[in-house]
Parts: sequence; structure tokens; C-alpha cells
Amino acid sequence: MPAGIRLSTAAEAPFLQSRAPSARNLAQPVGVRTCMNITVIGRGNVGGSLARLWRAAGHDVQELGQERGDATNADVLVLAVPWAAIPDALENVRGATGKTTIDATNFVRGERPDFPSLAHQVKSIVGGATAKAFNLNYAALYDEVPKQDVRPGSLFAAEDEAREVTEQLIRDAGLEPVYGGGLENARALEDFLGVLFAWGRGFYRFWTP
Ligand SMILES: NC(=O)c1ccc[n+]([C@@H]2O[C@H](COP(=O)([O-])OP(=O)(O)OC[C@H]3O[C@@H](n4cnc5c(N)ncnc54)[C@H](OP(=O)(O)O)[C@@H]3O)[C@@H](O)[C@H]2O)c1
Repeated sequence: MPAGIRLSTAAEAPFLQSRAPSARNLAQPVGVRTCMNITVIGRGNVGGSLARLWRAAGHDVQELGQERGDATNADVLVLAVPWAAIPDALENVRGATGKTTIDATNFVRGERPDFPSLAHQVKSIVGGATAKAFNLNYAALYDEVPKQDVRPGSLFAAEDEAREVTEQLIRDAGLEPVYGGGLENARALEDFLGVLFAWGRGFYRFWTP
């Protein structure tokens, strides 16, 4: 777990009562949870939506865009910018080096950067523990997440040191984390976008029998 993450109990967390009403309020975790200082780089469809959900779950969230900023106090970075903006977005945020980073970007069209995946490119710049997550969830559906009776799934891949924090943030967005292996599988998640597009806008869920 990244340094600086504060543990708190449900009793200490008034935000647990403050989520948007839903049948079972599935985004509410139970028991011990972590409150994080999150810097989201990219505050559009993905970054802006996740920021709203995480604030509602009690996290401190800073949203940055093209105006740059300072991530020195962040426990975790979340990257949600167009893939071609990855180097620019990361290299111009102060204090990003070495941070645990969750990469939500997708490759859409153009010439792929010369890395095994976009997440590897992110890792090469930031250098901290890295995860690929949220790239296979439609941003347009985030407002629907708290209304679901069963948590929708969220496939992710992560280095071991980034796995726990990624699972926590997926849960705190109201989704169910589905571990898809280490960062070597990040490219497979990026390539799965074509399947997601073919299938159309929707939630998905994986479960064990
Ligand atoms: N839309 C989806 O359903 C979805 C789902 C999963 C993954 N993704 C992926 O997630 C990423 C973001 O998608 P989106 O739909 O959220 O895009 P978006 O709504 O267009 O938002 C893009 C954000 O990136 C910021 N940005 C662009 N260039 C930047 C730079 N050089 N430095 C810093 N910030 C920069 C913009 O800043 P400003 O606010 O200053 O303009 C904006 O806040 C993309 O890689 C996309 O493929 C999208």
C-alpha cells in the first residue's frame, strides 16, 4: 500500500451515508477502508466521473487537465487522457515520479508507441507501481453504477504493489474488481477494446461458480 494512505473505519467516515441513494448502495464498502489522496490527470468523461464517485466515497481527489499541476501529495495517480497525450500529461505534472499509477487510457487510432502497452509507457515515465484499470468501463455509464443491484465488473491488470490500491479504487467506484493478471496483460486489456466496442455500451460481470 502506498505510504500516506490513511485507514479509517466506517464509524469515522461520514461519507458512508452520503452516496447517491440506490437499492443496495453497492458502492458502500463494509468495515475497514482506506481514504486516499488521489490525483486524476484528465478530468473528462473518465477522470471527471471517477473523481465524482471517489469523492462521494470519501477520498480527497485533485483533478488536473492541460493546465498542469502538482501531484506531490498524491498517494496514487490516475491517468485518463487521450493516449497520444500520455508523455506530455505525465512529464508536466510536478511530483509524479515514483507514484503508484493507474492507467485508464486506450489506444484508439494512429501509430502505437513503441512499448508493450500504454501502461508500460506510463510506467517508463512515472516509474512507480503501475496498473491498467478502468479502460474497459464505459464512462457514460458511471452515473448508472450506484443504481445496480449487482456490482458491474471492472477488469484490471496490475503489478503486485499496485494491486491492492487498484482493487480498492475499483470497489470505491462501485464496481467489482476482476484481476486479469500482472502488467504483462495490460496490452490484452487494451486490445479487448475492440470486443467492447463490438458488443456495445453495457456492464459486464465475471463470477466463479
Ligand atoms: N470515454 C470512455 O468511455 C472511456 C472509457 C475507458 C477509457 N477511456 C480512455 O480514457 C482516456 C480519457 O478519455 P475521456 O473520454 O475521459 O476523454 P475526454 O473526455 O476528452 O477528457 C480528456 C482529458 O484529458 C485532458 N488532457 C488532454 N491532453 C492533456 C495533456 N497534454 N495534459 C494533461 N491533460 C490532458 C483534458 O484536459 P482539459 O480538461 O484541460 O481539456 C481532459 O480533461 C482516453 O485514453 C480514452 O481512450 C475512455
